[in-house]
Amino acid sequence: MPPILQLKDVSTHFPVESGFLFKKQTGTVKAVDGITLDVERGEVLGLVGESGSGKSTLARTIMQLVPTTGGTVVLEGRNLTAASAGEIKTARRDLQMVFQDPFASLNPRLTVFAALAEPLLVHGVVPKAQVPARVAALMEQVGLAPRFMRKYPHEFSGGQRQRIAIARALALEPKVIIADEPVSALDVSIQAQILNLLAGLVRKMNLTMIFIAHDLSVVKHISDRIAVMYQGKIVELGSALDIMERPQHPYTRALISAIPRVEHSLLT
Ligand SMILES: Nc1ncnc2c1ncn2[C@@H]1O[C@H](COP(=O)(O)OP(=O)(O)O)[C@@H](O)[C@H]1O
Ligand SMILES: [Mg+2]
Repeated sequence: MPPILQLKDVSTHFPVESGFLFKKQTGTVKAVDGITLDVERGEVLGLVGESGSGKSTLARTIMQLVPTTGGTVVLEGRNLTAASAGEIKTARRDLQMVFQDPFASLNPRLTVFAALAEPLLVHGVVPKAQVPARVAALMEQVGLAPRFMRKYPHEFSGGQRQRIAIARALALEPKVIIADEPVSALDVSIQAQILNLLAGLVRKMNLTMIFIAHDLSVVKHISDRIAVMYQGKIVELGSALDIMERPQHPYTRALISAIPRVEHSLLT
């Protein structure tokens, strides 16, 4: 089987401007700089790197939420970098994102029911009469009781809100989920629950996931392979075991040594 997602020499650069009245481009931030990467069907690919290394920009580049400076993003044979607006809209059904802050990604004025019904109705996934049953099923999939479907995001805990955001991402039955630091804003005690939920969903629903974190200790248990990103480039890519046990790049070693010692000795 060919990889589900293929990136070839992908770059996303941002202009740096200075000046007050007369703005002038004085430089370029190479947020994503020549990345070539295959994502295999059904795998969890961990993407790790310190803050500012370009992880979110790479995610937004794959989603076609920022214009690419160069290279190609191919999803199941469809070149998204050369796709029409209509083709991108179709591809977005297959590619869904989960963000760090569920408060920001959920509309505070929409009940859980409305938030989950919206994508179903917009894309005509199920006939209108079946929407409530479908919403209830989505909630059960992420471990939420359907009787809470008339509640608003602020009535839930942070972990529950992230479950709602995950349910919304699942509504269109995507093939690939890009989770951008989905547990970084959660209490440590809740992080493992959300990680387990995502890992279970990938297996049960035959998903492929790119899981982003700034912390290797978060990605190492959930990932089949880990890509290490540094200054817009992937500096090391390997099986989770190889990356943790036999890191080659000095930057990867630095990330491993940044994992708190106690946890390091307990878990490895
Ligand atoms: N829209 C933008 N305009 C200009 N610079 C940006 C923009 N988005 C991100 N950057 C810059 O790109 C670099 C990578 O950022 P980001 O992708 O958010 O990294 P990460 O998610 O790894 O923390 C940073 O230097 C950031 O300031
Ligand atoms: Mg980020």
